[in-house]
Amino acid sequence: MEIFENFADPSGPLSFLTRFAHVLAGVTWIGLLYFFNFVQVPAYAELSDGARSEALRKLTFRALWWFRYAALLTFLFGLLLLTLQGDGENMDVYLSGIGGTAILTGMLFGITMFLNVWGVIWRNQKIVIGNAENVANGGEANPEAPAAAKRAARASRCNTLFSITMLFFMVFAAHGAVWFDAIGGTAVYWLLVLVLWAFIEASALGLIGGIDSAFNKAAFDKHTNTIWFGFGLLAIIYFVGWELLLPA
Ligand code: HEM
Repeated sequence: MEIFENFADPSGPLSFLTRFAHVLAGVTWIGLLYFFNFVQVPAYAELSDGARSEALRKLTFRALWWFRYAALLTFLFGLLLLTLQGDGENMDVYLSGIGGTAILTGMLFGITMFLNVWGVIWRNQKIVIGNAENVANGGEANPEAPAAAKRAARASRCNTLFSITMLFFMVFAAHGAVWFDAIGGTAVYWLLVLVLWAFIEASALGLIGGIDSAFNKAAFDKHTNTIWFGFGLLAIIYFVGWELLLPA
């Protein structure tokens, strides 16, 4: 049976199965992210307080379990894929080459998104759902809950924005980077990518001009704008970074 032959070879079944598991977990995660952003948030804005509270406790709570564990599995299978990719001793060569530059770009956004899920979205959603639970049982409303909901919402929209560039470079690493013969100018490229990444992430966390900064309102208040900003980020990184800065 082919699937058991040369199991651990560099592009053998282990690598393939890890890739499959990585993408399966990834679609589960990003599918739920898009459900939250494009469907749930607009729908919840139209629900009554009671209906929203019940949906938060019964629906969002369950969806968030799949969401955060899918993010964890995507991350872990992604790291395993990376170790299989470089074939051990060639890791440095792989990472500084074309495919490596692409996958490191995807991973920068993917790992940030993973940290946003566990460190910002889930931490704040626990406060929001805990408050809904408490109020439903006749307890006092937690005054912290609205601010926690806003922090979770900003990080979630930031992840939606990042997801477009992240997924492009995940796929580009193995299927698009081959268009380039060689690359140079990587320091300037990384400067561009890191400045854009740091500005957007720090803004979403409220570290630049607060949680309601002009950028946050423009990029994150409406999910349609988030999609445009997402493609805008990808366009800058691809056309300026890959077409202008990187070709040797
Ligand atoms: C969380 C951090 C992540 C890490 C560390 C990571 C790592 C990797 C690595 C090392 C590869 C192999 C690249 C190559 O073939 O050269 C890869 C490919 C890929 N990843 Fe990720 N990834 C992450 C997140 C995601 C997410 C969220 C998705 C969403 C679906 C995703 C989807 C993919 C896809 C579609 C491929 C390409 C498979 C192929 O072209 O055969 N990854 N990833």
